[in-house]
Amino acid sequence: MITGTFPIDQFRQTDTPFYFYDMTVLRDTLSTLQAETSDPRYHVHYAIKACATDTILRTISEAGIGADCVSGGEVKAAIEAGFPANKIVFAGVAKSDKEIVYALEQGIFCFNVESMEELEVISLLASERGKTARVCLRVNPNIDAHTHDKITTGLSENKFGIPMRFLPEAVQLCYRLPAIEFLGLHFHIGSQITDMTPFVQLAHRINELVKVVEALSCTDEEGNSVTPTVTHINVGGGLGILYEHPNHFPIPNFKAYFDTWRKHLQLRPDQHFHCELGRSIVAQCGNLITRVLYVKKGENKQFAIVDAGMNDLIRPAMYGAFHRVENITHPDNEEQLYDIVGPVCESSDVFVENYHIAAIQRGDILVMRSAGAYGETMASQYNLRRLPGHITSDFS
Ligand code: LLP
Repeated sequence: MITGTFPIDQFRQTDTPFYFYDMTVLRDTLSTLQAETSDPRYHVHYAIKACATDTILRTISEAGIGADCVSGGEVKAAIEAGFPANKIVFAGVAKSDKEIVYALEQGIFCFNVESMEELEVISLLASERGKTARVCLRVNPNIDAHTHDKITTGLSENKFGIPMRFLPEAVQLCYRLPAIEFLGLHFHIGSQITDMTPFVQLAHRINELVKVVEALSCTDEEGNSVTPTVTHINVGGGLGILYEHPNHFPIPNFKAYFDTWRKHLQLRPDQHFHCELGRSIVAQCGNLITRVLYVKKGENKQFAIVDAGMNDLIRPAMYGAFHRVENITHPDNEEQLYDIVGPVCESSDVFVENYHIAAIQRGDILVMRSAGAYGETMASQYNLRRLPGHITSDFS
């Protein structure tokens, strides 16, 4: 069995469970990403919700990437980690007045607006402060991302975005409102997408919608007629990773992803392309490190009960997600079959069932791989357990 290389002595001295971030993997990921996005019209905004650990945020901001935020807290974390305000986009179906005001005061690049109701509120709050809010309209393109139900966002039945048939009205409203500057369109169809077909479909849909918008005639607040221009196209996030193969494919297929956009999206020289990648940037650099508390014989199963629970990594319980598990204390033991489970009082507190892994003993350290995205940020204190800590390979 191939396993990653981990500083096991360091792990032994650290209270488990905790997240371990391999900064070499992160840096390699970022340089591959930068090589694919050297066109000055391409702008990547890292989706902070995937992992907001300070060292990770700083490393990403130092790579010159922008930030995609979904709450005032994320905007604050982005600014504190050194992301320039003019590279921050702010999405979310329900931004509170307080969050909008905070983002306006920080001078963020753009609000991704999800309804006409929200547009009116942003305009009001901006004009009261003598500011103009730059906006992209988030459109629900009704495209099936063919991913897990709980992480599909681009279908008409989902709560996200403005339905396509209201788009002309929403663009016209942007021009009529006093404190709104219309920049373009925003989309996000879902997450953990490894087949490029949904992105191809989205690119074609965007090409059509840009034409629809630019054929509109709008009236500004003074009654002048204006023709809208889409200068910014934000395609959201969604590029998936290979959870089964963190050792063989630690870097996601950014080439296939950007080649898809280069080939199918009609981007004019006066237009900018934005994307909001989260998972693909941080998933493979993160691992959840846990100790085995008990190896328990069940009626016809063998349970390895570890000290990490669903509160530390909720993805298996919530989405049935797979994370590869490795025994790094005894990697060469002959494999046996286990259910690897946590200590939380819920029968869904199971990481993996019927899993072949090098034979486990009490005290062994196990590594749950590919846990950098939506791992630590989704941790909770359920059962009044402490939040998991983290260390990085730079040992900070
Ligand atoms: N942009 C928007 C508007 C989003 O809603 C999301 C993710 C992203 C960008 C980043 O998507 P990514 O590149 O990471 O796929 N907790 C789930 C994933 C939820 C994704 C929510 N939105 C999981 O653990 O799989």
